[in-house]
Amino acid sequence: MKNQELVFIPSAVMSHLVSTVELAKLLIDRNEHLSITVLIMKLPYEKNVGNYTYPQTEASDSRIRFLELKKDESASQTVSPILFIYQFVEDHKNSARDVLTEISNSASSDLVGVVVDMFCSSMIDVANEFGVPSYVFYTSGAAMLGLMLHLQSLRDDFGEDVTNYENSKVELAVPTYINPVPVKVLPSRLFDMEGGGNMFLNLTKRFRETKGIVINSFFELESHAIQALSNDKTIPPVYPVGPILDLKESNGQNQETEMITKWLDIQPDSSVVFLCFGSRGCFDGGQVKEIACALESSGYRFLWSLRRPPPKGKFESPGDYENLEEALPEGFLQRTAEVGKVIGWAPQAAILSHPAVGCFVSHCGWNSTLESVWFGVPMATWPLYAEQQVNAFLLLKDLGMAVDIKMDFKSTSFEPSTEIVAADLIEKAIKHLMDPENEIRKKVKEKKEKSRLSLSEGGPSSASLGRFLDALIDNIP
Ligand SMILES: *[C@@H]1O[C@H](CO)[C@@H](O)[C@H](O)[C@H]1NC(C)=O
Ligand SMILES: *[C@@H]1O[C@H](CO)[C@@H](O)[C@H](O)[C@H]1NC(C)=O
Ligand SMILES: *[C@@H]1O[C@H](CO)[C@@H](O)[C@H](O)[C@H]1NC(C)=O
Repeated sequence: MKNQELVFIPSAVMSHLVSTVELAKLLIDRNEHLSITVLIMKLPYEKNVGNYTYPQTEASDSRIRFLELKKDESASQTVSPILFIYQFVEDHKNSARDVLTEISNSASSDLVGVVVDMFCSSMIDVANEFGVPSYVFYTSGAAMLGLMLHLQSLRDDFGEDVTNYENSKVELAVPTYINPVPVKVLPSRLFDMEGGGNMFLNLTKRFRETKGIVINSFFELESHAIQALSNDKTIPPVYPVGPILDLKESNGQNQETEMITKWLDIQPDSSVVFLCFGSRGCFDGGQVKEIACALESSGYRFLWSLRRPPPKGKFESPGDYENLEEALPEGFLQRTAEVGKVIGWAPQAAILSHPAVGCFVSHCGWNSTLESVWFGVPMATWPLYAEQQVNAFLLLKDLGMAVDIKMDFKSTSFEPSTEIVAADLIEKAIKHLMDPENEIRKKVKEKKEKSRLSLSEGGPSSASLGRFLDALIDNIP
């Protein structure tokens, strides 16, 4: 039998790439005839991509290979930073064509499909040229997918432009949410004046042409949303196969992880407040002081991942402080030395899996949300950018699984916000969440069990993955 070759085109940011590769691993484990090629589009500011893919490329027995696409420099136009997301993918289409030509001509394998990332759906054009079915891998949740499809339908089928409601108190009835969704929690990039909103809706529109959408979620977490998507016949079949996580943290730094684990080992169970805001999360000095005050005054033990904002106007990820004292109130480190630890980069999965951790103050990135569910750690929601506000809304209102700090806090992915959340608000949320009697703690523990069952043999996500593999074969032209 000929080898079956599936091509993945992930977005170039680390979190999407890592989830894509973890999905690829699940697929090849289940089908011995399947090989996967992951096409890499390198972004200048994502420095770890090479370190992540290289060791995996070296593993000779792997049926997953990585190919770096070439950027078409001649075609490149200067566009606004937000439209860059689209243009960047356009500029890699020629190179993707070359790869698909090579695979199609290969005598040893059949090209069975192309799986595009949510931000790369324009690559469907290339799949179409080869007459190959396309699929989407949606790295966020089912409710969010439904929200984007709903907004796209409002625009294209009903001529309704939700960006008119920016800053209003309007609430939208969205089929994938139980509660009406306030416009103020929608991703701010939807309101971008340079066409960013339309660009995202254009990318979403193309999902409808595909043969299926794989979602990083699971039925018991988002049953309402998944049902709503399945009931809508204008949407291709959805395959919730999550939670897909990278618990080994392939890009981890071992010495630091060891040092942090040793510290957690000597703390009592469920006693530590863990604060971490994702790979692009950072705050200005004023906000850092408020967080410090809240922690000190709450008296709880804490582990705080504090990152230095990138230089102004630079599209760079936050870095680590050389000297933490500079960023923190005077004497804070000395006064809290017995109960707290301030760190830079955090091995998040290792920390969340530790019994000493009692709650997680989080930016609500989807990946972090799934990790906290997987480890049964309740969250306090402090979203920053992208779809994090609406993730927080889902957790707070629809799922009742979190405590709010500031659901509609807004920042951008490269700059800290100018808005400041006061210490007493932060402290109140943490105290509420750390209360052992809080029902939310019980609910999150239940979801933890469900998340694990979902992936085990016969569980809903495992079954869904099987259906996706069957569809891949059935849809071969
Ligand atoms: C999820 O996020 C954590 C923390 O930002 C990161 O260490 C991990 O690699 C991410 N995992 C995936 C699957 O993206
Ligand atoms: C790997 O990481 C190291 C240190 O973080 C960095 O100096 C190096 O450039 C990276 N290599 C690649 C191929 O990205
Ligand atoms: C969105 O699609 C429409 C119709 O194809 C097109 O006219 C418009 O330029 C696109 N907008 C963006 C920002 O890509």
